[in-house]
Amino acid sequence: MFDGYEAICCRISVCVFELLSVLLLLVLLSSLSVDGRKARVHHYFEYSAMSCRAHSASLTDFGGVGDGTTLNTEAFRAAITHLSQFESDGGSQLFVPPGNWLTGSFNLTSHFTLYLDKDAVLLASQDVDNWAVIDPLPSYGRGRDTAGGRYISLIFGTNLTDVIITGENGTIDGQGALWWDKFHRRELQYTRPYLIEIMYSDNIQISNLTLVNSPSWNVHPVYSSNIIVQGLTILAPVTSPNTDDSCLNTRIEDCYIVSGDDCVAVKSGWDEYGIAFGMPTKQLVIRRLTCISPFSAVIALGSEMSGGIQDVRAEDILAINSESGVRIKTAVGRGGYVKDIYVRGMTMKTMKWAFWMTGDYGSHPDNNYDPNAIPVIENINYRDMVAENVTMAARLRGISGDPFTGICISNVTIEISKTSKKIPWNCSDVSGITSGVVPKPCDLLPDQGLVAECNFPTECLPIENVEVQTCSYRSKYL
Ligand SMILES: *[C@@H]1O[C@H](CO)[C@@H](O)[C@H](O)[C@H]1NC(C)=O
Ligand SMILES: *[C@@H]1O[C@H](CO)[C@@H](O)[C@H](O)[C@H]1NC(C)=O
Ligand SMILES: *[C@@H]1O[C@H](CO)[C@@H](O)[C@H](O)[C@H]1NC(C)=O
Ligand SMILES: *[C@@H]1O[C@H](CO)[C@@H](O)[C@H](O)[C@H]1NC(C)=O
Ligand SMILES: *[C@@H]1O[C@H](CO)[C@@H](O)[C@H](O)[C@H]1NC(C)=O
Ligand SMILES: *[C@@H]1O[C@H](CO)[C@@H](O)[C@H](O)[C@H]1NC(C)=O
Ligand SMILES: *[C@@H]1O[C@H](CO)[C@@H](O)[C@H](O)[C@H]1NC(C)=O
Repeated sequence: MFDGYEAICCRISVCVFELLSVLLLLVLLSSLSVDGRKARVHHYFEYSAMSCRAHSASLTDFGGVGDGTTLNTEAFRAAITHLSQFESDGGSQLFVPPGNWLTGSFNLTSHFTLYLDKDAVLLASQDVDNWAVIDPLPSYGRGRDTAGGRYISLIFGTNLTDVIITGENGTIDGQGALWWDKFHRRELQYTRPYLIEIMYSDNIQISNLTLVNSPSWNVHPVYSSNIIVQGLTILAPVTSPNTDDSCLNTRIEDCYIVSGDDCVAVKSGWDEYGIAFGMPTKQLVIRRLTCISPFSAVIALGSEMSGGIQDVRAEDILAINSESGVRIKTAVGRGGYVKDIYVRGMTMKTMKWAFWMTGDYGSHPDNNYDPNAIPVIENINYRDMVAENVTMAARLRGISGDPFTGICISNVTIEISKTSKKIPWNCSDVSGITSGVVPKPCDLLPDQGLVAECNFPTECLPIENVEVQTCSYRSKYL
């Protein structure tokens, strides 16, 4: 349906790259037959990435053992320390072969690709002592679960450039049950670790992986820019997957997420800490996402939004059995803003609320938040959607004395379930317009007749024009 939009923006050189890879393969095959037994290629494959690498190594070169019980933390650290010498010499890639690779946390380096074979499974260490404790994020002031520090992520990077984590749908298993139990029993000393966190970095690609059982958030880019998240399968019983936090220019696409929390959470810091840090999330594209989130939202903006959230464009979204489609969460004390939000082409099946705005989310880091720091919510556009089996079309609550303004909803048909006894729209402290919306919206969002079409920007964001290229990996000759 929205292919037209994409065609204008992007996809130019796909065919060229495919041709190139066929040629490469032919060259390789002919060199094989010429050199015969002498130079047999041990292992060769191709993959898509923002940048290719000159140097390669396998985890097994550094003593890695993929038996599911040997701890590989030192192998990962030694491999990446060794490969970091190639940062300014064409970069490097680390191959993780088939196997079950138990590991504690390790840090990434710049101009580096971590590549998981399709049968490679990273298993997060179950020994809490293997997890270093790091400072809270400055824009949060404290950990999200507990006051004070937080356990470092399984895969961590800070102050980097050009980092890729990919693989033919290889798996990262956070083995989170240990952490969920501690969380529910209130035994946690520090905030639970994430699977992947990249801070203060740019040019990041995280793609074609399956992430399961994260102790907490799955992928957390923060204070970073130029990020592509593509082709992830995220299966998470209790956690919050992609959290795009104070980031500039991000593209999240072709992901399948089953979550106990929001499928994509967009954030930018918490109350006085987020206001002081002042780093917004801007220029975020979310497309071709399938989400199942029975207790949370498909796309959540906030509740931590104190640095501001601006210019989010989401389209071609399938939501199944989820609590709400798009949710804006905020509170007095947050400050900041959520503005210029555009969502179109969303199909929703079995939802509690298609649209939800919450102005009294509460949840403060401490009692030092500024009660005069009121958030600004404006220019929110939803269009071209169908929903079926929905309990309520919308529950929209702004803040008394601080209404959410510039809401526009057009061409949206919501089928309310036969068993619902709720009124379809319940609105307060909001203003805006609607057009071609069924069932009839609340009086605060008057219908304009079939004339208005809510906005969706036509020009591309820079991240939409970033092309992936075909890269190759070749292990040492036998
Ligand atoms: C992910 O995998 C798909 C299907 O194999 C492939 O077309 C795509 O180029 C890959 N993308 C990235 C960024 O790895
Ligand atoms: C990884 O980076 C963090 C933050 O810079 C640091 O605290 C930690 O010691 C590093 N870990 C290793 C093994 O170098
Ligand atoms: C990373 O960058 C941030 C922001 O520029 C800076 O404050 C911090 O000291 C840097 N950290 C390291 C380990 O270089
Ligand atoms: C990746 O693996 C997951 C889990 O096994 C599976 O559900 C998904 O369909 C796979 N994705 C692709 C593109 O093969
Ligand atoms: C209305 O939305 C549907 C998708 O729900 C879309 O197929 C249709 O083209 C839209 N109509 C207009 C006039 O944009
Ligand atoms: C409709 O939604 C209800 C929950 O509100 C669910 O129990 C039921 O299975 C759904 N029906 C269909 C046809 O999906
Ligand atoms: C609308 O929501 C408010 C707050 O949840 C509730 O008190 C009120 O009864 C609702 N209105 C109707 C008509 O259901």
